[in-house]
Amino acid sequence: MKGKDLLSISDLSSEDIHWLISDAVDMKAQGWLSSLSGKTLAIMFEKPSLRTRVSFELAMHQLGGQTVYLSPAEVGLGQRESVPDVARVLSRYVDAIAARTFSHQTLEILASYSSVPVINALSDLEHPCQALADLLTIYEKKGELDALTLAFVGDGNNVAHSLLLAASLIGMNFRIASPAGYTVQDRILYMAQDYATDSGAEILSTEEPNLAVSGADIVYTDVWTSMGQEAEAQERHQIFASYQVNSELLSLAKDDAILMHPLPAHRGEEVAEGILDSPKSVVFDQAENRLHLQKALLAGMLGGLEIPLAGYR
Ligand code: CP
Ligand code: NVA
Repeated sequence: MKGKDLLSISDLSSEDIHWLISDAVDMKAQGWLSSLSGKTLAIMFEKPSLRTRVSFELAMHQLGGQTVYLSPAEVGLGQRESVPDVARVLSRYVDAIAARTFSHQTLEILASYSSVPVINALSDLEHPCQALADLLTIYEKKGELDALTLAFVGDGNNVAHSLLLAASLIGMNFRIASPAGYTVQDRILYMAQDYATDSGAEILSTEEPNLAVSGADIVYTDVWTSMGQEAEAQERHQIFASYQVNSELLSLAKDDAILMHPLPAHRGEEVAEGILDSPKSVVFDQAENRLHLQKALLAGMLGGLEIPLAGYR
């Protein structure tokens, strides 16, 4: 993983994912070790963020490194300056770039012109850091990763894409229930099906939330309108109305099922009022685990200390 980009979950192997979770478990248990002294991460965002920005900043600082945050207005990515030039300039200053872009293609151009690793901090196509942190949360709650079934209810969006790829790589069953025309992209589904032939994961794409959630270990949802799709919000609200995760739908999952959401959430839309504050909800563990997982990721990418293994696998 050292020196490589993380634009997509498909940049990782199943072994990489297990190592990252293992290191994150150790980092979380042992506090932090100052292993990235002298290293700098640029955090360059075209969209707003709470969790991703704060967790990347703290991850670097807790490992002894530094960060430089660049807001949309400051960089003018592709407007004030071309994406290739931004990549070449930043590469002269920093050791890695975490970028949140509207278009995934912007990230790919950034990575192809950058001589330092680029991390996808969310694009319209994927949110790999969220999916990896979510696997850490699932491992903590369930004590295993494969042999589980995750049911995603809602839009086949960036978060769904990364979860589908991660689940199919590691052998976790993945079901998605979305309205017609809003399921995951074919290209991602085919890639996942290919991974699943090796890992044994079962993949199901359906329009029926009940079918997806029945007997699931994990029920996952995300906003119906992602950042950048605000003009479609009203239309999506109508199209997704019967895809709300509420107590009735949740009752079809296993008794000990957990409820996940990457946040920010729109209570009363994709999740019924009160559901995210119920005992099944692990959303704040998910948010915390962004920090621990990203510390493991940054240490791996930037050549941090070897962390002694404990407690995982
Ligand atoms: N889940 C997540 O990525 O949150 P932010 O958009 O606040 O970073
Ligand atoms: N799908 C959401 C995730 C936010 C963390 C979005 O892209 O806005």
